[in-house]
Amino acid sequence: MKAITIPQPGDADALVLADVPDPEPAPGEVRVRVAAAGVNRADVMQRMGHYPPPPGAPEYPGLEVSGTVEALGEGVHGWAVGDQVCALLSGGGYAELVCVPAGQLLPVPHGTSLEDAAALPEVVSTVWSNVFMTANLLPGQTVLVHGGSSGIGTMAIQLAREVGARVVVTAGSAAKLEACRQLGAEILVNYREQDFVEEVRAATGGAGADVILDNMGAKYLARNVEALAPGGRLVVIGLQGGAKAELNLGLLLRKRGAVIATSLRARPADEKAAIVAAVREHVWPLVEEGRVRPVVHSRHPLADAPAAHRELEESGHIGKILLTP
Ligand SMILES: NC(=O)c1ccc[n+]([C@@H]2O[C@H](COP(=O)([O-])OP(=O)(O)OC[C@H]3O[C@@H](n4cnc5c(N)ncnc54)[C@H](OP(=O)(O)O)[C@@H]3O)[C@@H](O)[C@H]2O)c1
Repeated sequence: MKAITIPQPGDADALVLADVPDPEPAPGEVRVRVAAAGVNRADVMQRMGHYPPPPGAPEYPGLEVSGTVEALGEGVHGWAVGDQVCALLSGGGYAELVCVPAGQLLPVPHGTSLEDAAALPEVVSTVWSNVFMTANLLPGQTVLVHGGSSGIGTMAIQLAREVGARVVVTAGSAAKLEACRQLGAEILVNYREQDFVEEVRAATGGAGADVILDNMGAKYLARNVEALAPGGRLVVIGLQGGAKAELNLGLLLRKRGAVIATSLRARPADEKAAIVAAVREHVWPLVEEGRVRPVVHSRHPLADAPAAHRELEESGHIGKILLTP
């Protein structure tokens, strides 16, 4: 098969299309012929040599795909050759074929095209596991979503809106904020011009955000804790602003707040399967009713993976970028 390899970590041109051996499904795995793969910021980190695949994961980048089941490993039940699926991966999605534990497969939702379904597994699993399973966002509460126009952000806004939460977003341009508003965000903060702590306080009568989904890490830690409501939960999922910062435990203690940091990719297969099962139960019906949708910004052929990475890094996109083998 053809796959994107990384012979030497580096800039976008480090992504090289090559002929590699077809993967064989291990017991409990399914082989999928890829229709599309989602591009995630983690793939950029892997390309640069900062985010090696976890032990046992395919070495090629790519954390989510859609496609057609082509072969079943020993002991797989509930899936058949020819099924149209999408899948949460630990790696290997930038390829014509990928093997995935059966517990990480989802059917393509009715009403979503096979290609667009590739934009769902990673963002939906990340948002559902963090905002709902971990931070327990409830109807009527306020959630602050940093980077609201990102792949993750566009899904977080829609799911929070669906549970009846109030959504505050940050983004770096008026056009991106307008896209967030159309998805259901009520309070729009241009982080280049406004202070999100002040804006969150103003929007909540001084109370703060019950949940914050953060992609910035160190750079926003102090201000995120300031923006938390009493009993608030800050979930850090990205370190775009660095990994080390000072935490004011006195302020956190007075607020009875929580700071949590998680990585989906590093979770064991049984936890990923539990998250995927929860997504299928809670999120898939919303997608099938057309209430929540994948937001696809652009598509590139697999061979043009460097162009797709450049587009992500230039950050003009709203939603997801896809690769199509
Ligand atoms: N821990 C996990 O399991 C997990 C899983 C998936 C994703 N993630 C993380 O989630 C984040 C989003 O991922 P993605 O794939 O959706 O990436 P993406 O589409 O490239 O989004 C990155 C976003 O960061 C925003 N941004 C940059 N500087 C900012 C600032 N100072 N304040 C607020 N936002 C800022 C950008 O918005 P502007 O262009 O407007 O600046 C852009 O929307 C990444 O940090 C990724 O690593 C974590």
